[in-house]
Amino acid sequence: MKKAIYYIQSTIMLFIFAPIARLINKSWYEKTVLPNTINRGCSSKPTMYQRKKIIPSASGEVLEIGIGPGINIQFYDSSKVTKIIGVDPSTELNKIAKKNADEVKIPIDFLITTAEDIPLPDNSIDTVISTYTLCSIPNPSLSLKEIFRVLKPEGKFLFCEHGIAPAKGVAMFQNAIDFFWPAIAGGCHLNRDMPSLLKSNDFNLQELDAMYLPGTQRFIGYNYWGVATI
Ligand SMILES: C[S@@+](CC[C@H](N)C(=O)[O-])C[C@H]1O[C@@H](n2cnc3c(N)ncnc32)[C@H](O)[C@@H]1O
Repeated sequence: MKKAIYYIQSTIMLFIFAPIARLINKSWYEKTVLPNTINRGCSSKPTMYQRKKIIPSASGEVLEIGIGPGINIQFYDSSKVTKIIGVDPSTELNKIAKKNADEVKIPIDFLITTAEDIPLPDNSIDTVISTYTLCSIPNPSLSLKEIFRVLKPEGKFLFCEHGIAPAKGVAMFQNAIDFFWPAIAGGCHLNRDMPSLLKSNDFNLQELDAMYLPGTQRFIGYNYWGVATI
């Protein structure tokens, strides 16, 4: 029963409320509705569970691309991480991230910029993190080239992303709604093939897992996570 209510509520929210709200007032939608929706949607129980699988493995100087509201900050291991650099173009999400940063001991620098143009030197970062971000970056290949450039040779890229689902019907639906989905979801594309994106940008996939997140609509819930090296 609870599950049915969740599915009905989220369907109304995603397919009726969000498109209408954005049509009525794009600026209000993007500055107020969207940041709060991202913060809430990305804090669901299954996504928090996914974050716990990868974030505690980060060490040294960490670059988090698309840090958004900073939900991962609580999961970094302060005994292993010396500094976090968070890159994200959203000033609205940065306000939420700064509050989360106040809760931990690790020094955090926020750079309000995009992951396609990271203002950091070559070979300078021990761990790059991307959670639910490669879906939203307008040019993911360019940002992967930047990640490749800033990672130290022994560095690690830890990722957890949603993307194209293996079930044909689900993938068809993801492709079909991609004409309007990015407009209501902060540029998010549901149908990116994350392993192919990584491989085509010369990353070595050391670990890769994938599954539909439990309790999540299948078209947004197919997750890929793992470790890539250069
Ligand atoms: C769905 S949210 C995920 C936020 C966060 N990574 C998390 O795990 O909760 C997508 C994020 O990508 C960010 N983003 C969009 N375009 C970007 C770009 N070109 N470079 C870096 N981040 C970007 C958005 O501002 C947003 O914070």
